[in-house]
Amino acid sequence: MKWVVGNWKMHTTAQEAKLLARRLREELYEPELPRRVRVIVCPPFTSLCSVQEALRGSWLQWGAQNCHEELEGAFTGEISVRMLTALGCSAVIVGHSERRRTAGESTERIARKLRRVVQAGLWAILCVGETLAQRRAHRVRAVLTHQLRSALQGLEPQQWESLLIAYEPVWAIGTGQAAELEHIRQAHTLIAELLTQLGAPGHVPILYGGSVTAENAQQILQLPEVDGVLVGSASLDAWQFCTIVRVAALCTSPIPTC
Ligand code: 13P
Repeated sequence: MKWVVGNWKMHTTAQEAKLLARRLREELYEPELPRRVRVIVCPPFTSLCSVQEALRGSWLQWGAQNCHEELEGAFTGEISVRMLTALGCSAVIVGHSERRRTAGESTERIARKLRRVVQAGLWAILCVGETLAQRRAHRVRAVLTHQLRSALQGLEPQQWESLLIAYEPVWAIGTGQAAELEHIRQAHTLIAELLTQLGAPGHVPILYGGSVTAENAQQILQLPEVDGVLVGSASLDAWQFCTIVRVAALCTSPIPTC
């Protein structure tokens, strides 16, 4: 089973989101796909309702790009996990580098959000990844260790089952320059080791994100260390996203086509 998650970021009005979601539903109506790939699209909060309308009853799932760490309260402008659950969300992206950078999200806050998401029984897609400066300074291991440890230490055994990791090197996001395959392989292997050290009781899916396109998806998804992809700009293009989903399905055993 491979995962394909679309992060629509701050794109699409409610109406545009509905059209895109409908198109995905129509194009991906193939009985074989749900057995091989799990697809989640994450529109902006304001488009969740229309995406729910468009995808309800299909095999495609939807989720959010962020949430607040408290269940409710005087937090102007924030959105709780309870509200997301009520809109049928099945996942929440936590700790995306754009939020770490532009919204100043601290590792403590990310850890609290993650707990709130998994307690609600939703998938938490925890984003980790180094900047270019950190990579050049050979600090990839140190950065990933810190990001994973601070977010996951002390997680209850059953909470691990609601966790996905997205390895998104910051320098590969939105640049058109995906990480080289060997770099992805090494980083995913390291993340898997760190998860075991932190007490993961079983396999935690590890997704790659950063300039994934219809063109490079096959090379990336056929790496055994890669359980799926987190797609940004290419997820806004129905043709590209559907192509990535089909490629993911082909890269899943038992079909050895790639
Ligand atoms: P791009 O695919 O646009 O590089 O974005 C990746 C990303 O940030 C997904 O969360």
